[in-house]
Amino acid sequence: LRQVDTSVDNLVDDPAVEEAAQLLKSGEVVAFPTETVYGLGGDATLDEAIARIYEAKGRPSDNPLIVHIAGIEQAKRYADDIPPGAEQLMNAFWPGPLTIVLRHNGSLSPKVTAGLDTVGMRMPADPAALALITAADLPLAAPSANRSGRPSPTSARHVYDDLNGRIPVVLDGGETGVGVESTVVDATQTPVMILRPGGISQEELQAVVGPVAVDPSLAFDQSAKPKSPGMKYAHYAPDAPLVLVDGDAAFFAAVVHDAKAAGKRAGALVFEEQIGTTGAEQEVSLGPQADPAEAARRLYDALRVFKRSEVDIIYAVTFADSGIGGAVMNRLLKAAGGRRVSAEDSN
Ligand code: TXA
Ligand code: MG
Repeated sequence: LRQVDTSVDNLVDDPAVEEAAQLLKSGEVVAFPTETVYGLGGDATLDEAIARIYEAKGRPSDNPLIVHIAGIEQAKRYADDIPPGAEQLMNAFWPGPLTIVLRHNGSLSPKVTAGLDTVGMRMPADPAALALITAADLPLAAPSANRSGRPSPTSARHVYDDLNGRIPVVLDGGETGVGVESTVVDATQTPVMILRPGGISQEELQAVVGPVAVDPSLAFDQSAKPKSPGMKYAHYAPDAPLVLVDGDAAFFAAVVHDAKAAGKRAGALVFEEQIGTTGAEQEVSLGPQADPAEAARRLYDALRVFKRSEVDIIYAVTFADSGIGGAVMNRLLKAAGGRRVSAEDSN
């Protein structure tokens, strides 16, 4: 796997972007930066390219891929019907971290949509991503560029660690800005429904389209079947088991103390203010407690830092379910497989 640098001034004539675009045109797959996480892209109209994506990731093929386009007009070429709410969302949030699920018109590879009659589309904001889509002149199907089940990649290095030997090229655009994936919104129903929380919050969506529903399965009520097919798989798993800790810094330190007393080496994924207070063998900071956007930026790299050779268990702080903090909490819950200890329960 070669890492080619895109951090030059004129991306339109960038030889790295040109090379990657040629690979895509020949049915190959290429990893590229977006403002959320790195994607693993392939021609969304070509079955063989989509098969390569699933294979490189080791991803179950019943989980549909997001199609990345470089403008609203390009999106309309693959959609069957654009409801007014979807149009408003595109105008307000594209380019940006919002994926809009629409009915498709059958012109994309059925492997992209995993046989559904809908497709998720997104116009990314990263200039290298837009330059690549434009140079390839193709809609790019792109899931996150990690091995299936691992934390999503927020740097070219993460892509390299997961996919070296499995794909030809990663465009290196530096660290991503948002750090968690796009919000997925189903615009085929009224009101529109959030299927995956992400870079755009429910509050921001509501300011544009009015009432916005949330998939009930996001409440971590296991009885509700997730509507977004990808939500049912293990995700974002760090090397060692992760447990969420609901409570203050003193409770966190007590939980770590108990683990150590039981002979376990503990890792702590905590706020800046807690560094030095947890008693854990390894502490990693998510930034200041008052800055959940910083936690979103740091989360996936932080999850990759912990190694089973160093820690037996990782404890992590929790976030309130609002704004970008809600998206961070959603990823932490998945990374923990729902495992949680609470100060309330142990009183
Ligand atoms: O930020 C992102 O969205 C990144 C970057 C690369 O753009 N991409 C990404 O893709 O996260 P992926 O494949 O890891 O996640 C796509 C999510 C999955 O949960 C999938 O089930 C859901 O979107 N999805 C895709 N198409 C769908 C559809 N037609 N209906 C419902 N959910 C869909
Ligand atoms: Mg993913």
